[in-house]
Amino acid sequence: MRIGQIDIDRPVILAPMEDVTDRAFRQLCKRHGADIVYTEFVSAEAIRRGAEKSIRKLAMDEHERPVAVQIFGGTVESMVEAAAIAESYEPDYLDINFGCPVKKVAGRGAGAALLKEPEKLLAIASAVVNAVSLPVTAKTRIGWDHDSINITDTVRRLEDAGIRAVAVHGRTRSDMYKGRADWGRIAEAKQACSIPVIANGDVWSADDAVAMFAETGADGIMIGRGSIGNPFIFAQAKHLIKTGERLPLPSYRDRIEAAREHLRLSLEYKGEKHGVLEMRRHYSTYLKGLPGVSKVRNLLVREPDPAVIVELLREFEATCEALDREGLLKEGGEFLNDHSPKLILNY
Ligand SMILES: Cc1cc2nc3c(=O)[nH]c(=O)nc-3n(C[C@H](O)[C@H](O)[C@H](O)COP(=O)(O)O)c2cc1C
Repeated sequence: MRIGQIDIDRPVILAPMEDVTDRAFRQLCKRHGADIVYTEFVSAEAIRRGAEKSIRKLAMDEHERPVAVQIFGGTVESMVEAAAIAESYEPDYLDINFGCPVKKVAGRGAGAALLKEPEKLLAIASAVVNAVSLPVTAKTRIGWDHDSINITDTVRRLEDAGIRAVAVHGRTRSDMYKGRADWGRIAEAKQACSIPVIANGDVWSADDAVAMFAETGADGIMIGRGSIGNPFIFAQAKHLIKTGERLPLPSYRDRIEAAREHLRLSLEYKGEKHGVLEMRRHYSTYLKGLPGVSKVRNLLVREPDPAVIVELLREFEATCEALDREGLLKEGGEFLNDHSPKLILNY
């Protein structure tokens, strides 16, 4: 799959996720094999106003590359201005969000709301393409609702506007996150245009990743919720895609180490106070299914001192080790395809 200078065979990509894909999580996923990572979406209006919290989201690290910055907005003016500012942070490409279903975005004429206004969607896409020299991509859904599925039309329009690749989440706006993503519609989108199509929606395992490539014919795939607490999914998916063989499930040691690594990165980027707070919603997904997890989780989410958190994780690992020696642990615990319902409700 080619986007500007980036040329990767069947990339497995980390999806943009608000409050999740910050620098720490992006780097963690990169270390575990993600081929391309996306920032959380950033509001064009907020970038334009110079809102500090949003501007901070544009920053990235060299070793995250290739990395895309995603922006959203409901007017040509704000998007053009924000695109130029985002470009100055030197991501590998810029992505436009035409798929976000939540009220604070779609209710204000941005994100998925633009699927109901194809002329405006086209105007925004062309204006952003013309405003920057970086490649511009888009991420969208298959339509507003089931009576107005228009993904083939949308991808053609985006291609005409100069968009270099399009990520398609196989749900409508009205689906939100319900039901299953419709991979058949993604396959139709792939047939309808000649720019690369990135398939997205409901990849929870390496097997799903292989099936998604096969069923959609897409050039790349993008994983969102399936990577939360499970960055291993990238290496597992790539290994299965390229060799036809499955890597073993991550052990309790791997999972506790990933939580520690995530904590270290969060502290590095967000400082002690925010780094510790940020990590609190992640422990349960890293440790899910391991013995005595609720007890250790309760301690972890109350503890302000990172050194004590590291010690709690070490003690927890020692407990798991002891149980493992007695043969009382399943391989990898019950770590399959779950995600944190809390994170999804927030979104
Ligand atoms: C917590 C959360 C935050 C999200 N934030 C964004 C976002 O900022 N931009 C975006 O384009 N999609 C966002 N999404 C949608 C995901 O990128 C993805 O399209 C969706 O979750 C379906 O893929 P999955 O089944 O692999 O999770 C978000 C999803 C979740 C669960």
